[in-house]
Amino acid sequence: MVALTPMLRRSLLRRLQLRNLRGLATATDSPSHKQQSFDNRVKIVEVGPRDGLQNEKKSIPVATKIDLIQRLAKTGLTTIEAGSFVSPKWVPQMQASGDILEHILQTGIPSPHPITYSFLAPNIKGLESASSILSRHPTSFAPTTTSSPPSSLPSIELAVFAAATESFSRKNLNCTIAESLERFRPVVAGAKAAGLRVRAYVSVALGCPFEGYDVPGGRVAEISRDLLEMGADEISLGDTTGMGTAPRTKALLDCLRVAGIRNEDVAMHFHDTFGQALVNTAVALEHGVRTFDSSVGGLGGCPYSPGATGNVATENMVYFLESLGMDTGVDLDAVADIGEWITREVGKGNDSVVGKAVLGARRREKGAETVPQT
Ligand code: HMG
Ligand code: MG
Repeated sequence: MVALTPMLRRSLLRRLQLRNLRGLATATDSPSHKQQSFDNRVKIVEVGPRDGLQNEKKSIPVATKIDLIQRLAKTGLTTIEAGSFVSPKWVPQMQASGDILEHILQTGIPSPHPITYSFLAPNIKGLESASSILSRHPTSFAPTTTSSPPSSLPSIELAVFAAATESFSRKNLNCTIAESLERFRPVVAGAKAAGLRVRAYVSVALGCPFEGYDVPGGRVAEISRDLLEMGADEISLGDTTGMGTAPRTKALLDCLRVAGIRNEDVAMHFHDTFGQALVNTAVALEHGVRTFDSSVGGLGGCPYSPGATGNVATENMVYFLESLGMDTGVDLDAVADIGEWITREVGKGNDSVVGKAVLGARRREKGAETVPQT
């Protein structure tokens, strides 16, 4: 067998697979869209430093979290969820998030292009914690208003998180869905006034650990619309439990389409508990969604969703999307290294099959190089 260098392998794979995806894209396009050039860019939102680590029982030093973010910032990723301004009584692992935001603004994080750093903020107290740090560094981040010129500074995003079921809302936020939306309103308004982008999650959109599989898509659409009307820039649909399946992912996205929600405003956030995340990603991709959340090394889990495991691994997501000819802009070899490193740091196994395969192939290639030629 011919031994290919990683670069040659990637380039061949990309050429072959671009053809496949063009087939996939045109099969679903309306005739009027067929003339338009095909845009194969996909945004990956790396949620490892927040969703990936929040559920870890052992306290992870803030220096390790910053190291993780620094490594991720060099891989081509453009959005990194870096922390969470929530009650430390509820999620102790996230209590140093202020130090992380402070580091981003004060010391800076080298990256080949400006990065958006995202932080959860479920209430006014979360907004105030973020704002007091931001106000100390007003010139260290780029405001994200539509009129703002391109900047080399990082952007900051706040994320609110609603639930699609009353049971999950109570467990995760200690209030009803309606109460949570009222609490988010000033957070969204305050963040927008400060020039921050706002993301809004709708958790348990494809299954709830307390109410089961049948989460009405119409309800998810209604909550998503409320959040967009409030001013959120993007809805991330959370399959918190990994209970989503391909047909139900399609049905959910159809509900959002009927409700008039544009694909550009939607991201998918799949946990991979039942191994369906990439199948569901393919369905969402075909539907027209172009933003996907993932976590390096497959780390993750929600403390208030019993049994839910990690987010789909970033390594798996990059490999899968690139194999379809999509352009993630993310260096697979680099994220594979980070996945291996961070899972060791937190004392667990690397949950990314792609990460392990990439590292294994590299080890074999290195071994082959050192075998003397006969
Ligand atoms: P509560 O107990 O009802 O709130 O919790 P409270 O207002 O009564 O406050 C209780 C204590 O928390 C007070 O402190 C507050 O000051 C403090 P005390 O007076 O007792 O010393 N507090 C805060 N401290 C820091 N930052 C804050 C804050 N707010 C209150 N922002 C609350 C309500 C929302 C605070 C609580 O339920 C909470 O923090 N929940 C967060 C749960 C969480 O973080 N879950 C994981 C993230 S969501 C997720 O993972 C899903 C996602 O990945 C998508 C998906 O997969 O579906 C996003
Ligand atoms: Mg999650």
